[in-house]
Amino acid sequence: MPLVTSKEMFEKAYKGGYAIGAFNVNNMEIIQGITEAAKELNAPLILQVSAGARKYANHTYLVKLVEAAIEETGLPICLHLDHGDSFELCKSCIDGGFTSVMIDGSHLDYEENVALTKKVVEYAHAHGAVVEGELGRLAGIEDDVNVSAEDASYTNPAQVQDFVERTGVDSLAIAIGTSHGAYKFKPGQKPQLRFDILEEVEKRLPGFPIVLHGASSVVPEYVETINANGGSMPDAVGIPEDMLRQAASMAVCKINIDSDLRLAMTAGIRKYMNENPSHFDPRQYLKPARQNIKDLVSHKITKVLGCENKA
Ligand code: G3H
Ligand code: 13P
Ligand code: ZN
Repeated sequence: MPLVTSKEMFEKAYKGGYAIGAFNVNNMEIIQGITEAAKELNAPLILQVSAGARKYANHTYLVKLVEAAIEETGLPICLHLDHGDSFELCKSCIDGGFTSVMIDGSHLDYEENVALTKKVVEYAHAHGAVVEGELGRLAGIEDDVNVSAEDASYTNPAQVQDFVERTGVDSLAIAIGTSHGAYKFKPGQKPQLRFDILEEVEKRLPGFPIVLHGASSVVPEYVETINANGGSMPDAVGIPEDMLRQAASMAVCKINIDSDLRLAMTAGIRKYMNENPSHFDPRQYLKPARQNIKDLVSHKITKVLGCENKA
C-alpha cells in the first residue's frame, strides 16, 4: 500500500466520533514503536515530521523509514509536514513524497495567513496532497516552534468559515487552550480547555475536520521515572485524557502528540542507563525506549483516540 492522505481517515473519524493520532517522528526507533503498536491494534496513523526533525534526520531517511513501516505493517499511513512555515518548505515536502502538509500561518495577520495558505493549497491539491491550516495561536516552546503566553490567542470562531472557504484547506488547527511542550499548565492550576469555542467552530463548519495541537497529557509515570533516574524535570502538567476523549468525540479528528513520546523515550533510556551504568551498546538502551513508545501509543489508541480497529 502506498502512503495515503488523511481525507478518508478524517471522514470516518468524524462520523465515528473518534480521532486519528498524529505522532511526531525523528528516528527509526520512534517510527518502529508507533507503527508496531498501531499494527497490533489495527489503527490508522498519521506520522508527522517537523522542520526540526527534517533537519535532524534528513528528509530521505524519514520518508524511507516510513515506507518501510508501511511495508512491515500494511497500515494506511499518512506522512505529514508539521508546522510548515513557508510555501517552499511545503512544496519541498510534497515534491519529496509527503501526502499532507501543514502551513502554519497563525503568526501572520489574517489576510496574509489566507493568502499563504491558499497558495499552498493550490500547489498541494494539484499534486494529490492535502493541507492543514491554522487559526489562533498556541503557546509553548519546542525547537522550531516558540510562542510566549502573551503572544498566544484563542481561535476566533467568527473567522473559520471565511478562512476555510477562501483557502480551500482540508482541515483546520484551532487554539482552545492546549499548548506545545511539557509545561502546559502551572502546577496546581486546573487544566481547562475552551470547549465552547470548539462547539461554535463545529456549528459553523459542520462535518469539517478540526485538529488539536499541543495535546500531550505529559504522562506522570514517565516524568517520575526520569526524575528517579538522575533527571530533574520541574512539575509538568498536560492535557487530561478525558478532555482529549471529549474533543475526539466532537469535531476533532487529528490529535497531535510529540512531548509524550519524548518523555517515554527519555524515561526508558534513563532507567536503563541508571540500572546498567557500565553498558554502552545503543541497542540495549534504545530497546526499552522503543518499548515505552509502543506502550504509550497503544494506550493512546485504545484509551484516548478510540481508533482501534479503524484501519
Ligand atoms: O509542535 C511541534 C512539534 O512538537 C515539533 O517540535 O520543532 O522540536 O521538532 P520540534
Ligand atoms: P505536544 O507538545 O503537546 O506533544 O504537541 C505536539 C504538537 O502539537 C505537534 O504539532
Ligand atoms: Zn503543533
